[in-house]
Amino acid sequence: MSFPPSALSSPLPAPGSAPLSRAAVVTTLRAAGCVFAEDEAELLLSTARTADELAAMVERRALGLPLEHVIGWAEFSGRRITVDPGVFVPRRRTEFLVGQAVGLGRRTAARTGRPPVVVDLCCGSGAVGTVLAAALDRVELYAADIEPAAVRCARRNLAPAGGEVHEGDLFDALPARLRGRIDLLVANVPYVPSEEVGLLPPEAREYEPLVALDGGADGLDVLRRVTAGAPQWLAPGGHLLVETSERQAPQAVEAFTRNGLLPRVAGSDELYATIVIGTRGPAEGAG
Ligand SMILES: C[S@@+](CC[C@H](N)C(=O)[O-])C[C@H]1O[C@@H](n2cnc3c(N)ncnc32)[C@H](O)[C@@H]1O
Repeated sequence: MSFPPSALSSPLPAPGSAPLSRAAVVTTLRAAGCVFAEDEAELLLSTARTADELAAMVERRALGLPLEHVIGWAEFSGRRITVDPGVFVPRRRTEFLVGQAVGLGRRTAARTGRPPVVVDLCCGSGAVGTVLAAALDRVELYAADIEPAAVRCARRNLAPAGGEVHEGDLFDALPARLRGRIDLLVANVPYVPSEEVGLLPPEAREYEPLVALDGGADGLDVLRRVTAGAPQWLAPGGHLLVETSERQAPQAVEAFTRNGLLPRVAGSDELYATIVIGTRGPAEGAG
């Protein structure tokens, strides 16, 4: 979506006036450069509870806010995830990471006979943890993020699954009792190289926090820190899953190997997704 200066050229009604018609919403969104103006209009019309709320939503969308921040939720793996302003909007491609994590979580539960211990590190809205909890049925669920707005949002999304959400820098945020106990560590870390952040669509650059996007010079700074810390936190046989780009995958694999995690790359052409899965070896003396 692009936002020409004429984005709000069709005047919106004053508060208290008659509701905007569907056609007026579509016209305003289209003038603002929304490619899917018709679909978005449907969403705005079905989400707004009053005429004033609808007018405000249309105005915010026409000004360029991400649709998900305007309506307050994103669809992710078939679920409605609350997404507050200033919180990273979960991307469709991350559904691939979730699918892989579900498979590993089911195998862990079958192997151990207990609910897996799952940590959604760099959780943002908590979308990944929310879907994992629903798919795995019984989990011991934790999440953490450095951004207070994300932590507040994730707490709301993860409350129904009994998830604990902590605030802080990567593993520093986690309770010490999780050391050596995590079966599934999922971390959709920021991985855009600093120089490429400026090339992202304005919706991301202007409305998502830089800390959610910028992965340092080559995009792998946070990933390297996660792979360095993970072996102390994973249970024997536990898995770390991170999203990366196809281009970054070889260096990401190197970081996993350097830290003693057995790496495997998986990808989806359909979702344009690449992930690295690293597994901690079994405990010494285990058969
Ligand atoms: C790419 S977003 C992913 C959010 C969420 N997992 C998802 O897939 O929708 C990365 C998240 O990592 C968080 N983050 C960045 N650096 C962090 C750090 N050092 N410790 C904890 N969280 C961090 C950001 O605040 C942001 O919410």
